[in-house]
Amino acid sequence: MIISASTDYRAAAKSKLPPFLFHYIDGGSYAETTLKNNTKDLERIALKQKVLKNMSDLSLGIELFNEKLSMPIALAPVGLTGMYARRGEVQAAKAAESHGLPFTMSTVSVCPIEEVAPAIERPMWFQLYVLKDRGFMKNVLERAKAAGVTTLVFTVDMPVPGARYRDMHSGMSGPNSEIRRVLQAMCHPQWALDVGLLGKPHDLGNISAYRGHPTKLGDYIGWLGNNFDPSISWQDLEWIRDFWDGPMIIKGILDVDDAKDAVKFGADGIVVSNHGGRQLDGALSSAKVLPTIADAVKGDLKILVDSGIRSGLDVVRMIALGADCTMLGRSFIYALAAQGQQGVANLLDLYEKEMKVAMTLTGAKSIADLNSDSLVTLPR
Ligand code: FNR
Repeated sequence: MIISASTDYRAAAKSKLPPFLFHYIDGGSYAETTLKNNTKDLERIALKQKVLKNMSDLSLGIELFNEKLSMPIALAPVGLTGMYARRGEVQAAKAAESHGLPFTMSTVSVCPIEEVAPAIERPMWFQLYVLKDRGFMKNVLERAKAAGVTTLVFTVDMPVPGARYRDMHSGMSGPNSEIRRVLQAMCHPQWALDVGLLGKPHDLGNISAYRGHPTKLGDYIGWLGNNFDPSISWQDLEWIRDFWDGPMIIKGILDVDDAKDAVKFGADGIVVSNHGGRQLDGALSSAKVLPTIADAVKGDLKILVDSGIRSGLDVVRMIALGADCTMLGRSFIYALAAQGQQGVANLLDLYEKEMKVAMTLTGAKSIADLNSDSLVTLPR
């Protein structure tokens, strides 16, 4: 079977996963307008073809936070990755490492930090949500530090969970969710799918909401859903800045002033992101806001971007729009669901090939050569 990075893995994931899980991955919030615009806006950015420039020497590599990346791609944090393939976090982390790329482990993971971090040699990135239970956050950060995590991705666009109607229709969310009960049963420790961040049952004492409760993923998700903190502000993040010695990236920035505040706060990077169209429907696509944000803060911190990237061409587009690096969300998850670690490794091969073709035919010998001269935005 020929697999293309953009559509075939999605189709393969759809045929393999139970519908409620596929729609949990595939869906966005409300009318899914932002979700659709993320890909549409990227498609409308044309690349300028340039020829006869002796492109035999091409380099895709970058350096980011003292790490070498074979191309400007990191795997984004995706909750429940271990539900789409067995020990999915480990499989995805290994595939990323085999391509010289970072893997970011989500707060809402199935495998424990202590299982995923030692499965690879390069330092894992770790994503944290802002939660009301600061003790939980501190405990998780301590565990991440102890496991050798260097780079912290701090997601700030989930002070409240977005309304995702596909999940309500499928029963994945909402009151009396049947599927939540099935998930709980599937994730019982007897089935060896324990909740990642809780790790072993004896860790439960560290999490106040869980004292004395069984380790079940569905319970954990419910607890997390009630623990997102709408009161959060920059001041609340200062203790994390002080606590965390390594690079800290703020994920979920779409506004120029917010990007400038991230610089003032001392962030090492931002992810320009609308959470893959899963939070504020009606928010602009990342491709739309990226150039303005890059104009304002490029060089002051590293600019990562996600939301809507489905091919190596999209990576080239985002870099030319002003990003230093990109993150893949659904794209790698579809491949993981379809073919596990091998699927993600194949997908990354395809991204590399597509980037090489795009750079050769736009006359860009290195990532630094990609800029607004490489692009034209087509009218709608
Ligand atoms: C996500 N995303 C996400 N982000 C985060 O910071 N923590 C998380 O736990 C999750 N969980 C999650 C689950 C699923 C199923 C999806 C699809 C996404 C958002 C993710 O990191 C990234 O921002 C988007 O996926 C990027 O958009 P694309 O590439 O999926 O269009």
